[in-house]
Amino acid sequence: VHIKLPLCGSEIIPITEDWDALDYLPQTYSSCVVISDQTIDSLYGLSLQKKLKKLEIPLHQIIIPNGESSKTLAFATQCWNDMHRFGLDRQSLVIGFGGGVITDIAGFVAGCYMRGIDAVYIPTTLMGMVDAAIGGKNGVNLSSGKNLVGVIHHPRQILIGPHYLKTSSIRELRSGIAEVIKYGIVQDPQLLGYLEKNMVQILQLEIDSLRQIIQRSCAIKANIVEQDAKEHNIRSILNWGHTFAHAIETLTNYEKYLHGEAVSIGMNCAAHVSYTMGFTSQDFVDYQLLICQCAGLPTTMPDISLDDLIEQMSKDKKNTSAKISLIIAKEIGKVVRVNDVDKKLLKKALVSIASHRV
Ligand SMILES: NC(=O)c1ccc[n+]([C@@H]2O[C@H](COP(=O)([O-])OP(=O)(O)OC[C@H]3O[C@@H](n4cnc5c(N)ncnc54)[C@H](O)[C@@H]3O)[C@@H](O)[C@H]2O)c1
Repeated sequence: VHIKLPLCGSEIIPITEDWDALDYLPQTYSSCVVISDQTIDSLYGLSLQKKLKKLEIPLHQIIIPNGESSKTLAFATQCWNDMHRFGLDRQSLVIGFGGGVITDIAGFVAGCYMRGIDAVYIPTTLMGMVDAAIGGKNGVNLSSGKNLVGVIHHPRQILIGPHYLKTSSIRELRSGIAEVIKYGIVQDPQLLGYLEKNMVQILQLEIDSLRQIIQRSCAIKANIVEQDAKEHNIRSILNWGHTFAHAIETLTNYEKYLHGEAVSIGMNCAAHVSYTMGFTSQDFVDYQLLICQCAGLPTTMPDISLDDLIEQMSKDKKNTSAKISLIIAKEIGKVVRVNDVDKKLLKKALVSIASHRV
């Protein structure tokens, strides 16, 4: 099912293995650059180039190294230099082909090049399909923190082909499931029920169950983004667990965890904090923990100093004047934003989680 985001100018389009570029990229562009990483290029680079040749426009490629460490201004600059050298102009198209790292950097590069050119994403990880490719957020990390530089630039199209997941690792799949769990917690108890019943099939890449969770997650994200593209209010609920996650990723140098793994730990921290603040029940905390464990996601705190964690959280870009604001859960499907969370209380909740450290 196509999902349109008219206010953002985006469209989410399901594709099958034999998709045809002429069916999906009908607009006339002067040229096109595919931004990808080494793994995606070696697996799918040729077949995409073959499809794009039908557009009969000059095609270019930029391949960056795999992983979060490529999400830097240095690599974005390298892309801009290459694009200018290739002769890309304001009618050119950027195609981000890969996981969330690639769509984040490709979106940023497209959003700034000549003050913004069109982007199309073809996400290849579950994380990309259900979250990173939708909503126009993009950017790069600074050494002092994650996603600190970026622009809001909505892709024209997001072409979603679950068949790409056949080659994605089980660890990556689990990481994407963390964001699906997030959607369930913030908005959709039924999605959580579906995950609970179908986790085995999902982890075995059973295509119908994948389509179900992708479709539902995309619909939830699209609906929230359309209501609040620039995150002035409701969109912030999608940050459930993420302030913890970003701090954990930064403090572990983006090496120990995949993004979704950090999100899983972060969501469990957020649940404990919600419980400690008296907003939610122990049952809620236990239920979310169970689903994350069912997906095979980590849920316990790594060996990092809690003071460092709180300090890092206070630098998150969602805060104002270094006061920590968090999304807090009341029950499944009901979360609220709380500004200026008491740091002593936060530490108390974190101490209880840290007693189960890995
Ligand atoms: N902009 C947003 O709204 C948003 C939302 C969520 C996450 N993100 C960002 O997304 C990033 C994480 O994305 P990710 O989890 O997709 O990681 P990723 O992009 O690093 O991809 C993970 C690894 O899997 C490989 N890979 C990708 N697709 C594959 C496939 N089909 N087959 C085999 N290998 C494949 C990649 O080469 C890479 O090595 C983080 O930087 C996170 O901040 C952004």
